[in-house]
Amino acid sequence: MRLDKFLSVCAVASRTESKRAARCGEILVNGVCVRASDFAVDSERDVIVFRGERVVYRKYTYIILNKPDGVVSATDDPREKTVLDILPEQFSKKGIFPCGRLDKNTVGLMLLTDNGELAHRLLAPKNHVEKKYRFRSKFPVSEADAKRFEAGLTLEDGYVTKPAKIELMGDGSEGIITLHEGKYHQIKRMLDALGNKITYLERISFAHLTLEDSGLSRGEWRYLNEDEIAELEKIADTSKVS
Ligand code: URA
Repeated sequence: MRLDKFLSVCAVASRTESKRAARCGEILVNGVCVRASDFAVDSERDVIVFRGERVVYRKYTYIILNKPDGVVSATDDPREKTVLDILPEQFSKKGIFPCGRLDKNTVGLMLLTDNGELAHRLLAPKNHVEKKYRFRSKFPVSEADAKRFEAGLTLEDGYVTKPAKIELMGDGSEGIITLHEGKYHQIKRMLDALGNKITYLERISFAHLTLEDSGLSRGEWRYLNEDEIAELEKIADTSKVS
């Protein structure tokens, strides 16, 4: 494989960037500076270092992003800024997409990948991946409403939500919601069903991934580390897909 293709597949640099970096002597292959970006490399065996960082070949890319307000969780949109617009250009060419959606005005943790099979498995209802959200509502949620919320609510389209959890804080108009499913606008519709309204929503965890541990400020992203990927693969166990 060509060196520039390898760096682009690993989502490290576009071909143009690779060319520039190679010319500037910023790429080492097996300890030797390589100045031609079309240099042939063995992706499995060669030790490739780009700007001082070892690049390990991975078939798939996994990204955690702290979604800001006003950005849509789509790959492409004719009018709106998308989460893909936050990432460097090479990711859209690589086929990265959001694993699950957040509303335009919901902020917080998003997982993005180009591994369609894994995303499908993580989102499969049988996997029950746990998601936590910090919320604020227009009116305080009463203890009685919290019980109804946890038992399962009938939404406006007749769908009955699965058991969920709501931890109330302060006067009850803020707290943490835990869901094991992800229907369209689910939390907003659940609060609507209680005659209330969500005024702020932030996803703070998805399975074992938490916003707190991510170290990301709003609008920032990073690659998942090896342990985080291994755990995701465990959750996306082939035996549990519907
Ligand atoms: N529930 C919602 O209503 N919106 C989201 O973005 C996520 C969960």
